[in-house]
Amino acid sequence: MDRIRLGLIGCGGMARTHARRFDAHLDRLQLAAAVDVVPERAQAVADLLPGAKVATDYREILDDVDAVLIALPHHLHHPVAKACLQAGKHVLLEKPMANSEAECLDLIATSEAAQRVLMIAYCMRYHPLVVAMKEALDAKAYGDVFQVSIWTEQLTRYHEGHWALDARKLGGGQLFSHGCHYIDLLLWYLGRPIQGMHLGTNYGTPWMEKEGTSNVCIEFAGGRLGYHFGTWGARGTRHGYSFHAHCTEGMLEAYFPGRQLIAHVGDKQEVLLETTEGKHTQNEMAHFLDCIATGQRPLTDGPGSLQGLRVIWRLYEAEGAHTVADLRGLGLDEYRP
Ligand SMILES: NC(=O)c1ccc[n+]([C@@H]2O[C@H](COP(=O)([O-])OP(=O)(O)OC[C@H]3O[C@@H](n4cnc5c(N)ncnc54)[C@H](O)[C@@H]3O)[C@@H](O)[C@H]2O)c1
Repeated sequence: MDRIRLGLIGCGGMARTHARRFDAHLDRLQLAAAVDVVPERAQAVADLLPGAKVATDYREILDDVDAVLIALPHHLHHPVAKACLQAGKHVLLEKPMANSEAECLDLIATSEAAQRVLMIAYCMRYHPLVVAMKEALDAKAYGDVFQVSIWTEQLTRYHEGHWALDARKLGGGQLFSHGCHYIDLLLWYLGRPIQGMHLGTNYGTPWMEKEGTSNVCIEFAGGRLGYHFGTWGARGTRHGYSFHAHCTEGMLEAYFPGRQLIAHVGDKQEVLLETTEGKHTQNEMAHFLDCIATGQRPLTDGPGSLQGLRVIWRLYEAEGAHTVADLRGLGLDEYRP
């Protein structure tokens, strides 16, 4: 099989994380081009693997690639992904898909018309600890799940002039930009959302225009609850990134700093899985390449990703109106445009 010629568009922090793991796939992937408005950044990514063309405008590389990985500021996701799909390229697009529902629907429609893969880079869905927790919950290995809590505590402070400080470019605050991973996971783990609320603040993160700290509580069908606390203002942390899934016969803990999935039953603990490294974007890339090769729908496709964003937009709306958000009709098995 010919190797997929990939173009990386946007060569900042996340693109470097991706590119450093491409060597796991060199039998079926070739980095054909690296693009950034800052040429030194494109060059730095191109230097990681030999032979990549360097450009400052993505339109210069469209004849050289079969697929693109887009890791751009959020307000550029829609126009650049759309142009790439229309040029017949498969697209792996960093989260969140786009900054408005209309833009998301347009990308989904464009990918369908072009018959090209549109996959959203929700890398946590491909993380072994996250996947193992999903399998254990679905198998009811520790009984029925009734509460999943997800904590993400980090210090994220952008330098002056960075696009993420502008809420219009970011598309919202910390919940939209980063919490979208965890709303997506709560939907994946717990099913159909019923109602929920978000309380956010930028107290403690004054560099953020919208919230830098988020608390989300969602009721799911069957009386299950999901909770997410995320902050970009942590000056210290014990949780780091941690998930607790309370079930009727035990508690499952995904502890990311320790890279372990742990089962707690009474006062006993059992390590169910240990992983070797923090980010698992190589599994995500493997899935993207599989989807291109087989035509299968990505696990993190456009419609699924839009559902999580619609939950966030409804939570934001309700927060502004001092009400509880009605989230019915937005489960991963319910709504497809
Ligand atoms: N999955 C994850 O864990 C994760 C983590 C961080 C960021 N991200 C996502 O990755 C994407 C990029 O974020 P980042 O943190 O790497 O940002 P960044 O600011 O580090 O990188 C963005 C890059 O895009 C370049 N750029 C801007 N406009 C451009 C244009 N018109 N053409 C070409 N290049 C252009 C900038 O020069 C910059 O190098 C975002 O969607 C973000 O949400 C994902």
